[in-house]
Amino acid sequence: MKITSDFLVIGSGIAGLSFALKVADRGSVSLVTKRGISETATDLAQGGIASVFSEEDTYEAHVQDTMVAGVHLSHPDIVQLVVESGPQAIRDLIDWGVQFSRKEDGTYDLTREGGHSQRRILHAKDVTGREIERALVEAVHQHPNITLYENHIAVDLITEAKITQRRVKPDRCLGAYVLDIGNSEVVSFGARSTVLATGGAGKVYLYTCNPDIATGDGLAMAYRAGATVANMEFMQFHPTTLYHPHAKSFLISEAVRGEGAILKRRDGSAFMEAYHPLKDLAPRDIVARAIDNEMKTHGDDCVFLDITHKGADYIKDRFPNIYQTCLSYGIDMVSDPIPVVPAAHYLCGGIKVDSWGETDLQNLFAIGEVSFTGLHGANRLASNSLLEGVVYADRAAQRTLKLLAEKETIYPSIAPWDSGSATNSDEEVVVAHNWDEIRRCMWNYVGIVRSTKRLTRALRRIQMIQEEIADYYWDFYITSDLIELRNIATVAELIVRCGLQRKESRGLHYTIDYPETDDIHWKQDTIIRKNF
Ligand code: SIN
Repeated sequence: MKITSDFLVIGSGIAGLSFALKVADRGSVSLVTKRGISETATDLAQGGIASVFSEEDTYEAHVQDTMVAGVHLSHPDIVQLVVESGPQAIRDLIDWGVQFSRKEDGTYDLTREGGHSQRRILHAKDVTGREIERALVEAVHQHPNITLYENHIAVDLITEAKITQRRVKPDRCLGAYVLDIGNSEVVSFGARSTVLATGGAGKVYLYTCNPDIATGDGLAMAYRAGATVANMEFMQFHPTTLYHPHAKSFLISEAVRGEGAILKRRDGSAFMEAYHPLKDLAPRDIVARAIDNEMKTHGDDCVFLDITHKGADYIKDRFPNIYQTCLSYGIDMVSDPIPVVPAAHYLCGGIKVDSWGETDLQNLFAIGEVSFTGLHGANRLASNSLLEGVVYADRAAQRTLKLLAEKETIYPSIAPWDSGSATNSDEEVVVAHNWDEIRRCMWNYVGIVRSTKRLTRALRRIQMIQEEIADYYWDFYITSDLIELRNIATVAELIVRCGLQRKESRGLHYTIDYPETDDIHWKQDTIIRKNF
């Protein structure tokens, strides 16, 4: 089967949905998403969206906080651009129907998170992402030019190649092959403009607060297609996810610390003072490493987050979702500290794009967590990512609309998917085993504290697994598990290779072999692209 439209959007979080809404009046949109439309990381975002919204705050302060959190690897021009676009991006969300929490006087209630010098985070209690997703999904459902394809997982980008210096190299994106999971059929989606908004890759790690969909699909596809990828070593570990065997690393928002919660050891003593002057509101990389150190030093399985001093009424009103979820696991945060551990949360690197979200393949854009814009540097400032998603959706929309207006309307002609001599698999165990092995290997060898020896070991193992996946991939009909496995293996390889390149410690990349930050040699991005 073949489907053609003006725009192909892959992913249905804040970036993909807002891009679709921005372009839908000007052309047909195919919106492809691999599960239900709301099964996204956006939907799980608790804290909020950062923007200068109060009289006491300034763009300069937001820029400065972002640069400091990113350990001065963020690109200053991009930080300025995103920060200054913030208020308009918030107004767009409000126009689409998002309702942020307000104070009694009717003004927006601004919260704080780690690394912010001001209260500047708009939120909808502790379910900000759910509220944003709700409003955008409603708007998308109402738009006649957007056709939604749920349970469709992208397999690979379709590209046209160019011969340069006797090499055949992909040059232009024509769309994507997409597996219709329900019918086990690969559909060819052709488009004049393709947008990757597939989110992050937390599932590369054994413990993550990301949803199951976060398998780095867009990143892996773009890398295979020849797009440049950058700064993959900077995987952000959120310091506080619920420690409970059945809680699947449920996030305890940094806003809980923003509103006064204190990290404590098992014996009740607070420890963040020993690590950073901002104590519990230090940047995330510092807090996650401090917790890791405390757990290793004291042989504990977790540390504790104490907000009991704020009282029952306040806690239940400000954090209703966290309160109820903890209670469902037998933890009453009104009277007891919450047991917490760090878990993989956000990928600061990604597909390299320019200030319009354009990749180095023609007609291919990347927006949201899948992209690398230069905003986050070596460590993302909390709540800057939802903002980046809306700002870049708008910029990519402006850019692609301008480019398409300059061209004749020709829809690409693409070849159908060819499954060759593939048969049904009789060894599903290979997929299950390799999923588990990659995630364990990444957690143990490529986690919060790294070393060259561990990274080298990890690379060896991942490359062996990749060989096995490649054999399997060409012999059997593809399934969504196999597609995701192939993608997490690619993303794992890219994280390790970037980690091995960076011979210093900066932000989220901490290695015992190069414990210092080296501004002379390493104040630069790590760039990777496939050889053709
Ligand atoms: C949180 O609520 O702690 C997550 C916010 C973010 O990652 O930006």
